[in-house]
Amino acid sequence: MQYNFDEIVDRRNTGSLKWHYTDDTIALWVADMDFKAAEPILDAIEQAVQHGILGYTKPTEALYDSIIQWHGSRYGLQLTKENILFSPGVVPSLALMMNVFTEVGEAVLVNDPIYTPFMSKVEQNGRKLVLSALKEAEGKYHLDLADIEAKIIEHDVKLYLLCNPHNPGGRVWTVDELEALLAICKKHNVAIVSDEIHQDLTLTGHTFIPFLTLAKGYEHNVVSLTSMTKTFNIAGIKGSMIFATNEALVKKISQQQNLNDEYELNLFAYTAMRVAYEQGDEWLTQALAYIEANIDLTVQFLEENLPKIKVMRPEASYLIWVDCSAYGQEDQALYDTLRAAKVELSAGFKYGEKGHLKMRINVACPRALLLEGLTRMYAALSDAT
Ligand SMILES: Cc1ncc(COP(=O)(O)O)c(C=O)c1O
Repeated sequence: MQYNFDEIVDRRNTGSLKWHYTDDTIALWVADMDFKAAEPILDAIEQAVQHGILGYTKPTEALYDSIIQWHGSRYGLQLTKENILFSPGVVPSLALMMNVFTEVGEAVLVNDPIYTPFMSKVEQNGRKLVLSALKEAEGKYHLDLADIEAKIIEHDVKLYLLCNPHNPGGRVWTVDELEALLAICKKHNVAIVSDEIHQDLTLTGHTFIPFLTLAKGYEHNVVSLTSMTKTFNIAGIKGSMIFATNEALVKKISQQQNLNDEYELNLFAYTAMRVAYEQGDEWLTQALAYIEANIDLTVQFLEENLPKIKVMRPEASYLIWVDCSAYGQEDQALYDTLRAAKVELSAGFKYGEKGHLKMRINVACPRALLLEGLTRMYAALSDAT
């Protein structure tokens, strides 16, 4: 079927985190999409409600098969049922991994800039946060491998939290980059947890490599975290997966989950996850085509109207990281100027020091909304030079 991504659905007054306004502000921030979910997912949830009994639920063989099939056929990641654990979210899993791989006070390395919870969960869990800044060249971020190794040695780092594809920079790390990173981590016995939640949103011309496909011989120190929620725009349902291919490591993670009895999802999450992987393909293909066109439109709009903004074109997902330093001197003031013009973007400074005077624009919305948001951005910033 043909989905209509141009349809504007009013999300205000629904408890939406993103659309929290009482006025007509346009939300181009939190990373969910303003598109209705795929019909098979909505139908399956409706059927579960119609059935009428919402009792305790466990993952079925069909659910495991759907996950194994999706990851095997798309990415060559060979999983068995024993490699898969469930978790209410990728962020809760990031926090869990502190206790799997590190002790209080030990050092955890993350890149700068990075999706904010990578930093906050490390600190809130009493670990030492070590940042390695990404290098910017040719309009995209690169891992600074020399800096990463130096920081690992200097701080005796135990765990590296990788974001692939990267939020907010949109990089899909190449096999060469990942192998170089793996070699360093292996050399210094650093565990790697790879947050791969944006994997299925990889854009044309780029190839996503699950970290576990490279980890042969190092599986005891590698975990992938991913979810169907970002891919299929069902983040409010909550649900995610933890993949590990070493038996002892799976056991350790499982024991850690058992401490808080947090290893199960709810009925709707299991249902949505299975149906998404079995039947969500058609929706995803169309959503990605629409998103790519929105990215093109945004890049062109900014080039033509706000030419001093430096745009990082994403290789995955629908978040565009832009450098607005030509249009402001102070982070909060830049954000406030945009908010006053009734458009909300994600403020770059929340993503680390490298986010200074940057903004993240979420373009996964109907084109008319996006254009209105960009027009307001233009109105706010064109006066600010
Ligand atoms: C890199 C990354 N990890 C995790 C999450 C959130 O995951 P969850 O909702 O499963 O906790 C996001 C959401 O934007 C994200 O961008």
